[in-house]
Amino acid sequence: MLKRTHTCGQLREDHIDTQATLAGWVNNYRDHGGVIFIDLRDRDGLTQVVFHPENADAHTMADKLRHEDVLAVRGSVVARQEGMANPKLPTGQIELDGVEVQILKKSETPPFNPEEAAKVGEDRRLQYRYIDLRRPAMQDILRTRHRVTKVVRDYCDEQGFYEVETPFLCRSTPEGARDFLVPSRLQEGAFYALPQSPQLFKQILMAAGCEKYLQIVRCFRDEDPRADRQAEFTQIDLEMSFVTRDDVMDLCEGMVRRIWKDVLDVEVPPVRRMTYAEAMDKYGIDRPDLRFGLELINVTEAVSGTEFKVFNSVIEAGGMVKAIRVPGGAKLTRKQTDGYAEFVKQFGAGGLPITKIAADGQLETGIAKFIQPVAAKLIEATGAEEGDLICFGVDPRKEVVERVLGELRLKLAEDMDLIKPGQWEWVWIVDFPMLDWDEEAKRWNSLHHPFTAPKAEDMDKIESDTANVLTDAYDLVLNGSEVGGGSIRIHQPEIQQRVFKLLGIDAKEAKAKFGFLLDALKFGAPPHGGLAFGLDRLVMHLCDTTNIRDVIAFPKTQNGADLMTEAPSEVDQKQLDELRLRIVQTQK
Ligand code: AMO
Repeated sequence: MLKRTHTCGQLREDHIDTQATLAGWVNNYRDHGGVIFIDLRDRDGLTQVVFHPENADAHTMADKLRHEDVLAVRGSVVARQEGMANPKLPTGQIELDGVEVQILKKSETPPFNPEEAAKVGEDRRLQYRYIDLRRPAMQDILRTRHRVTKVVRDYCDEQGFYEVETPFLCRSTPEGARDFLVPSRLQEGAFYALPQSPQLFKQILMAAGCEKYLQIVRCFRDEDPRADRQAEFTQIDLEMSFVTRDDVMDLCEGMVRRIWKDVLDVEVPPVRRMTYAEAMDKYGIDRPDLRFGLELINVTEAVSGTEFKVFNSVIEAGGMVKAIRVPGGAKLTRKQTDGYAEFVKQFGAGGLPITKIAADGQLETGIAKFIQPVAAKLIEATGAEEGDLICFGVDPRKEVVERVLGELRLKLAEDMDLIKPGQWEWVWIVDFPMLDWDEEAKRWNSLHHPFTAPKAEDMDKIESDTANVLTDAYDLVLNGSEVGGGSIRIHQPEIQQRVFKLLGIDAKEAKAKFGFLLDALKFGAPPHGGLAFGLDRLVMHLCDTTNIRDVIAFPKTQNGADLMTEAPSEVDQKQLDELRLRIVQTQK
């Protein structure tokens, strides 16, 4: 094989009059009156190769080349003819005058050309992922992902972290999702669970004296995929001993700062902190998107004392009325505001009361006539001005009001094009409640996971004032997406037992499920804490895509399939027999 001397992204005017050998795929071919042009592509870029009839052997070979053929070509680097330079291409000033061609592998007609991938349905691209990945945009993503993990490893190494691998075949870790199970052949009827995260192992590594742990690790959660969620995804998982919340947050902030600088040459300024309570109050969500305003305003006080039953009944029941002021929103049509009323129903709202501020500063349309007596107070509370729209969230349940307005806020921002490109709004959300009451199931759930430590000052009220116990948990949020989350952990077995008890896990069940953790905490566990970043989500932000499948080399579809290998698939009866499994057909 001809020995490659340069990549297809490398040659410049400086190389003119030198010899070069390139290797790659035929991205495109054109015959211009006997002169053949090939755009040769490798992961580094594109170079135009030209074949003149005078170089008869090479020209004859080139004539046979078609899309995606793989070849090596030797020639001399020449300047492109006057007017033929391509300023969009880094190699666009030159071309390679091909004198020798080796076809390394002919391609059958590909199902699509990488260049045209944008026009091809995603299923087809996933089925032929190796062709899809040949696109420069996809190669960029692979490169960025590699870059991020390299920066993370270097950064953590400088800080004294050890990279440790934890098992994939393990007991289930309660991170709140469904487990993927793997049947054991050696132990009849027993199952491993694939880890939802290495949470317990990393804590045990702290008990084991590791002090600083890093793992770039695959996690498995059997949940329905979403735009930013895959069943199989990757965490940058960290844990440290003898640290406070601030130590972990500072280290993690330093890490994203280094990544953003290295990959995008963007400075991440010191990240602001916001309590969970403030985030819920102002944005109705614990991962607020701070790229635009439209904050939620509590107007309960301002709108009380009218004859308007919808507000009064909720206020009398101890509920609240909140509002979003939409600057310039008065221009929205009835059809549009009706559309929003329909939109919020899926989040539990009965409807969406609205009003507008008219030119004379008075309220008009919607519920204006019912709340006219409190117009001045409402305008003062919301700061609304002429031409604005006010949308109300009203429900006896605080969480419904927050959810409805939180979702409406995002929808309005999208529809009104309030999110400008190139914004990076980072925020740490801190002081999460430890537990959340599930009214339907009549039980407490962990907001993070059951191993999150209550704040020292709240230890005494774990049982007596459970709803108000806060933790040293922290989530890192970027442009409204949760890119990482962690906490200081419980390192005293008796506290862990008390938290388990509140979660309905009695001592017997705790011993059966988490005996190993409780034991590890008994024999000298240091105070510790950590965090896990979602690597895929970080790369999504860096590569400016909203589809998590774009940043994973071999992702799964919406129904959990790998279209290329056709996993999941049926298995042989012999394999089932070995595992003593029987498939029960359900009636369709
Ligand atoms: P958590 O469950 O918050 O915490 O996960 C940490 C981060 O992982 C990312 N993430 C996901 N990314 C893609 N697809 C998914 N299905 C998915 N689920 C989570 C998010 C999230 O912030 N053990 C704890 C961490 C700790 O306490 O140290 C944990 O797993 O970006």
